[in-house]
Amino acid sequence: QPTVDDIREVIAPHLDREGPLLPILHAVQAAWGCVPDAAVPVIAEALNLSRAEVHGVVSFYHDFREAPAGRHVLRLCRAEACQAMGGKALSEAVLGKLGVSWGETTADGAVTVEPVYCLGLCACAPAAMVDGRVVGRADAARLDALLAEGAA
Ligand code: FES
Repeated sequence: QPTVDDIREVIAPHLDREGPLLPILHAVQAAWGCVPDAAVPVIAEALNLSRAEVHGVVSFYHDFREAPAGRHVLRLCRAEACQAMGGKALSEAVLGKLGVSWGETTADGAVTVEPVYCLGLCACAPAAMVDGRVVGRADAARLDALLAEGAA
């Protein structure tokens, strides 16, 4: 966990901006790969907000993580078109196989699974994204192969 001084240093350049909270959270996440627990009270104090308000924003935006991601990030589309085309079963199979829930990282730190809500690939549902690369007509075997390839 970063120290209070580390956090103050990262947030300082953004304090005078209008609507500073989101830029500050992005800066913190860029520095540490997530918005660590230690940052919440420091940000709250600097902006005169409550911890609950800062925490609420971190959990509301899917962009922010509360823990660092694994070596690979697998995003599975949970929006309607994909759900109707097997996305739900695919998600259940993948989460079950990896032994994680949404937003969690496997125990070996290899893969974080996150939901997305439409990747614009509805015509090729179910859609997924592996380390920023979009995958249409995803199935469990293909995702496994892509994750293994990335790991090599
Ligand atoms: Fe999944 Fe659009 S609903 S890509």
